[in-house]
Formats: sequence, structure tokens, C-alpha cells
Amino acid sequence: MKVIVTAGPTREFLDPVRFLSNPSSGKMGFAVAAAAAQRGHDVTLIAGPVSLKTPRAVKRKDVVSAREMLQALEDELAAAQGSEETVWVISVAAVADWRPKTCADSKLKKSRMKGTLELVRNPDILKTLSLKRIKNLKLAGFAAETGNLLAEAMRKCREKRLSFIVANDVTESGAGFGVDTNKASIVFPDGISIHYPVMSKRSLARRIILQAEKL
Ligand code: PMT
Repeated sequence: MKVIVTAGPTREFLDPVRFLSNPSSGKMGFAVAAAAAQRGHDVTLIAGPVSLKTPRAVKRKDVVSAREMLQALEDELAAAQGSEETVWVISVAAVADWRPKTCADSKLKKSRMKGTLELVRNPDILKTLSLKRIKNLKLAGFAAETGNLLAEAMRKCREKRLSFIVANDVTESGAGFGVDTNKASIVFPDGISIHYPVMSKRSLARRIILQAEKL
């Protein structure tokens, strides 16, 4: 199968030197891409700004903003159109939901900055792809939560029409942003979930790919 993985944060600039973002290192997404390649799949990794080496046998496209990430995915899916093989999009990226309404061409002067920043919604990448109803396309996501883990993950899984979502509580030690381990549950739309103990992101990634292969 073809596997397209997104990883890392997005950056949403308000001027050439300032942006909104989050602490995603890309480790989880890169581990998923590496695991898929090790299983012999055709893997493309769409990465936000991170400082990680591209895993072996993985094609990589770097992007900065949420809108660029969506465009890169749409380009990949257009290129895959017509093929009979299953295409998975596994969205591990921590995509910024909001961006500044405008991005100034030059550095904003403190004296010209107001006390508030006007924001607009970014596209929901997974939802946008699900609405295209592309044949052979399967979607999986991650839910980064700080409470109500399984309920929130299930809501996102259904709203975004995913085959499954990997739920992680990013406030737990050994889980979430930046670290080499994660503690997660794979949640399916019918309410069934599989709970894993803390393990390396590489081990969790292998389990995620094995689940995708079964669907
Ligand atoms: O990169 P690391 O440092 O290793 O950290 C790993 C991680 C914490 C980033 C990862 O495990 C994780 O939880 N990734 C998902 C982060 C996230 O954006 O979660 P969310 O619950 O806000 O989004 C739910 C899903 O929708 C995600 O698959 C996300 O990629 C997707 N999404 C979100 C916003 C948006 N505008 N479009 C989307 O498609």
C-alpha cells in the first residue's frame, strides 16, 4: 500500500520573524513513516519544520504552514489517482488550527502592534480529505488531548471520518511532545479501542502500521 504520513508542527507567521506553532518534534510521525517503509510500503512523509533525518526508503516533502501541508497532501493524492492500491494518510502532524489573519511583509514594529492578534481558522486537513470521498483512500489521525482522552478521540475519529485515531494524553509523563516514548490507545469508530502501555515511539509506530494493514 501507499502510506502518506504528516509529521511535526506547522508554523503560522504574522511577520517574517514571528509565528504561532506548538512543541511537536516530529519524532512520532517520523517513526510511523520509518515503520511503514520497514514493512515494505511506498512511503511519503510530509514534514513541518523539524530537525530530524529522513528515514531510510522514505520520500520527504517539507512544508511550513497548514495550508502548505494540505496542498502537499492534495498533490500526493492527485499523483496516486487511478491506482488500485490502498492509499493511507496517517496524520501525525500537530497542525495549527488558527493562523494570524494577515502576515506583514516586514517585521512589525512594537509601536505599530496592537494588544490583540486577529486569527482565522486554518482548514481541517483530515476533514477536507474525507469530504473528497476518494476511492481507496483511508484516513487515520492522532488525538493530542489534555483530558477526556477517549471521548475526545472518538469524537474526532467520527467527525473526521477516520478508520482509526491514536489517542495520546500529552500531559502524561513519557507521552506526547518531544520525548522518545508514547502512551496511546488506538480508537476505532465503532467504539472499540486497544490500549498500550508506555513504549518507544518506534514500537508504537510498528503497531499502528500493523493495524492499518489489517483494515
Ligand atoms: O512530534 P512529537 O514531538 O513526537 O509529538 C507527537 C504528537 C504529540 C504531535 C503526536 O503524538 C500527536 O498527538 N499528533 C496529533 C496532534 C494534533 O494536532 O492533534 P489534534 O487532536 O489537534 O488533531 C486531531 C487530528 O486532526 C490529528 O491527526 C491532526 O493531524 C489533524 N488535524 C488537526 C488540525 C487541522 N487543522 N487539521 C488536521 O487534519
